[in-house]
Amino acid sequence: MALISALYLITASGSLTTLTPGTVNNVTIGEHVLFPFGHQNAAHYEVIFERESPITCKIASWEFIRSDVTKSIHQLYEERVEMDSNSSVMLRTIQKNDSGDYNIEINHFMSTLKGSDKKSFALHVFEMVSQPVVVTDGNCSTQNITLSCSVPIETSVVFHWEKQSLSRAAKDMYNGRILVIDHNMKEEQYVYVCIAENPVSKATSEEVKIRLCNLFNFKDQIQLWMFSIIGASIFLLILILIICCFKTSRKASCNELTNEAKQENNEETAIYEHELIEPTYTTRIETRTF
Ligand SMILES: *[C@@H]1O[C@H](CO)[C@@H](O)[C@H](O)[C@H]1NC(C)=O
Ligand SMILES: *[C@@H]1O[C@H](CO)[C@@H](O)[C@H](O)[C@H]1NC(C)=O
Ligand SMILES: *[C@@H]1O[C@H](CO)[C@@H](O)[C@H](O)[C@H]1NC(C)=O
Ligand SMILES: *[C@@H]1O[C@H](CO)[C@@H](O)[C@H](O)[C@H]1NC(C)=O
Ligand SMILES: *[C@@H]1O[C@H](CO)[C@@H](O)[C@H](O)[C@H]1NC(C)=O
Repeated sequence: MALISALYLITASGSLTTLTPGTVNNVTIGEHVLFPFGHQNAAHYEVIFERESPITCKIASWEFIRSDVTKSIHQLYEERVEMDSNSSVMLRTIQKNDSGDYNIEINHFMSTLKGSDKKSFALHVFEMVSQPVVVTDGNCSTQNITLSCSVPIETSVVFHWEKQSLSRAAKDMYNGRILVIDHNMKEEQYVYVCIAENPVSKATSEEVKIRLCNLFNFKDQIQLWMFSIIGASIFLLILILIICCFKTSRKASCNELTNEAKQENNEETAIYEHELIEPTYTTRIETRTF
């Protein structure tokens, strides 16, 4: 009793699921379930709730005679089974070992057995998937990076991966527990998450960011170095050429400037001499007048 109430507190969200006859019903540990058999109009009838597999056992029975009810419940189920109104049977706090097939049989009586009806239910009980953990193997010096996803209980768990760009624009999906990334192909940084799913729940790992590898593998590194050296040499050559051209062109323009300056100076002196000439003319005129 204490164990059941403890379990109830921990796992049961108190959710109540009505099962569907004739199908596989996926339920979570801790849930309460209803096996519906429908409202009965007869004055005298009997409801038998039994388990068919993996063991065969009669769990409970109820006999309705007008407003009287006579019930009998198996001692293992005393705490968990009850008639819910009078159109379904309730099994509370589902456990892992409740998985199996169940029947509800309804017998109607007049003076002798008048008719009977049977409904079958398949119950699959699952635990909620816990948060998956991702292990990364490999780095920029290996060709691939391998991401492995796992959860503690992997029965009936399906894994897939989601890849997102940092801008959250593109989204790709990959199936499987392990994802191999060939990071030579990467030109953009991505974020990966692993999603573990079972028929009753779904859990997402933390985001895994794969660093962009600037240096590729060893062969590519050598090529990269060679290209770098050639590139640097060409750059240096161009730089030298530019400096030389600049220097020669600068010399030329300087000469032109000094030429101009000389010419200007000549002109100025010419003007100056010319100005100087005039007073000599006046003095000459003065001397003429005198
Ligand atoms: C229950 O899960 C199984 C897979 O385990 C699936 O095939 C089936 O459709 C599920 N049932 C319902 C009612 O969702
Ligand atoms: C059971 O069914 C009868 C009618 O057959 C109805 O009067 C009664 O209220 C029902 N009991 C419950 C608990 O729903
Ligand atoms: C199911 O397992 C619980 C323990 O988890 C045990 O107490 C119970 O008797 C088991 N029920 C059946 C029907 O085996
Ligand atoms: C990269 O991984 C290899 C093997 O997986 C390991 O030997 C190496 O030390 C790692 N290098 C770095 C920089 O982590
Ligand atoms: C890297 O992954 C590719 C497939 O994506 C595979 O063919 C190759 O063998 C892997 N290389 C290494 C070193 O694991």
